[in-house]
Amino acid sequence: MKVFDSGMPEEAYWNSLFDVPLIVDWLNLKNVSAPIVEVGCGYGTFTIPVAKETDVEVDAFDIESSMIDTVRRNVRQAGISNVRFFVRDVVEEGTGLESGSVGMVLLFNILHFDERRILLEEACRILRPNGAAAIIHWRKDIATPRGPSVHTRPDQQLILDSVSGLDLHFSGNSRILEPYHWGIQLIKSNKQP
Ligand SMILES: C[S@@+](CC[C@H](N)C(=O)[O-])C[C@H]1O[C@@H](n2cnc3c(N)ncnc32)[C@H](O)[C@@H]1O
Repeated sequence: MKVFDSGMPEEAYWNSLFDVPLIVDWLNLKNVSAPIVEVGCGYGTFTIPVAKETDVEVDAFDIESSMIDTVRRNVRQAGISNVRFFVRDVVEEGTGLESGSVGMVLLFNILHFDERRILLEEACRILRPNGAAAIIHWRKDIATPRGPSVHTRPDQQLILDSVSGLDLHFSGNSRILEPYHWGIQLIKSNKQP
């Protein structure tokens, strides 16, 4: 099931809507020592800067083969070798990755649909103890040049409500990522399954 309203404008324009270095810095990648998974990677706006900042493998998933083709091309141009590519409907099929195997899951601009808990459950399943789900989305408190309808955009509280009962806990790391986004990180506890 493709998340509605998740089509992409032209690549350079999309990339211009983020302060990518600020967001990559916010991820604090030096603390991540297991693979990083990005669900709905789009053009690789974040996949590539993240992969450049880390030695761990970055697994890029998108339902659209055209998006994965673009990420593959961008990875080749960037000269990096730690990205794997998956054309997959992660809502319907999950990631197929082993439980408890990854250090961070990126859910960027994708949780604006009612069944968002499916992706949060999958993130929780594949994260290692102490692993982090990092979520960003469009702000609702200001006008933004793109983004899904304001009524469908989640906010941080809706994300916290959506993980009720899951082993994903607010880390205290929630902030505005100027100009147009907010971000929140949720940590899996260090209980062994
Ligand atoms: C709005 S874009 C965000 C791209 C990227 N995360 C970013 O922030 O630059 C959402 C992406 O999710 C992909 N997508 C939508 N539904 C999906 C699904 N069920 N499984 C995997 N990817 C999906 C779309 O094809 C699109 O590339």
